[in-house]
Amino acid sequence: MQTVTQLGVSNKLRSLFETAANVLVLTGAGVSAESGVPTFRGGGNTAVWKGMPFEIISSAGMLERDLRAVWEWFNYRRGRLETLKPNPAHETIAGWQQQFKHFTLVTQNIDGLHQAAGSRDVIELHGNLWRARCFDCGQRHELRELRMDHDVPVCIDCGGHMRPDVVLFGEMLPPGAFERAAHEAENCELCFVVGTSAVVYPSASIPEIARAAGAYVVEVNPEATPLSDLCDEVLTGKAGEILPMLSEARA
Ligand code: OAD
Repeated sequence: MQTVTQLGVSNKLRSLFETAANVLVLTGAGVSAESGVPTFRGGGNTAVWKGMPFEIISSAGMLERDLRAVWEWFNYRRGRLETLKPNPAHETIAGWQQQFKHFTLVTQNIDGLHQAAGSRDVIELHGNLWRARCFDCGQRHELRELRMDHDVPVCIDCGGHMRPDVVLFGEMLPPGAFERAAHEAENCELCFVVGTSAVVYPSASIPEIARAAGAYVVEVNPEATPLSDLCDEVLTGKAGEILPMLSEARA
């Protein structure tokens, strides 16, 4: 069985893990890989659905061209997620909320698995697959609460048609989400970057902001990324194995 010592965790990280009062975690698709959610890059998972590449069917332009097709695609993605469960990485991160005095979880994932593991107040930079947003009044609602009009959800508040509450290609991040994450990054002492290829901005700038403000930045990923060189420490391996071992080392 692999031990934390074999992971090569530095004394600096062990000590910070004991004493840090303000910790931030940024996650990407890799944190859900061990739950069975495909990542976007690597592993030959380039998504094509009904002949349309991911970046076309998931684009802002497609909302105008064919809203029903967009919903069909997101319904399909939700269907594939329905039976998937959080893995030890999600569970460990949820536990950190109680361990550190001030803890912030920022995710690029839309799968809701952090919340399913018990994480609260998650800063969702790219939205959430289980919610819809009204075109007319802007209200957000859980999809399971909504009735459909020709396969398009209808807003409980104003009766307007709704869209997935997800950031599509060609769109800005939800108002305030990046600003809140950047503010927390500026103030954290320890920052973990878990399971992201760190190529999509502005999300990938969160660890850069933390590092520039003096935080100790640790990457957890089986592969090197463009951020690896900036990090103080790189733990090479799967999040579902490394994060629980880190937690055990603290106890
Ligand atoms: P990517 O698919 O780009 O990167 C996944 C990362 O996870 C890679 O660096 C893998 O090496 C790593 N990985 C794979 N398995 C892992 C494991 N078990 N433990 C830890 N890491 C593992 O996913 P993101 O970086 O999240 O945006 O992609 C960012 C954004 O690109 C997504 O949020 C999405 C996409 O366009 C939108 O849809 C708006």
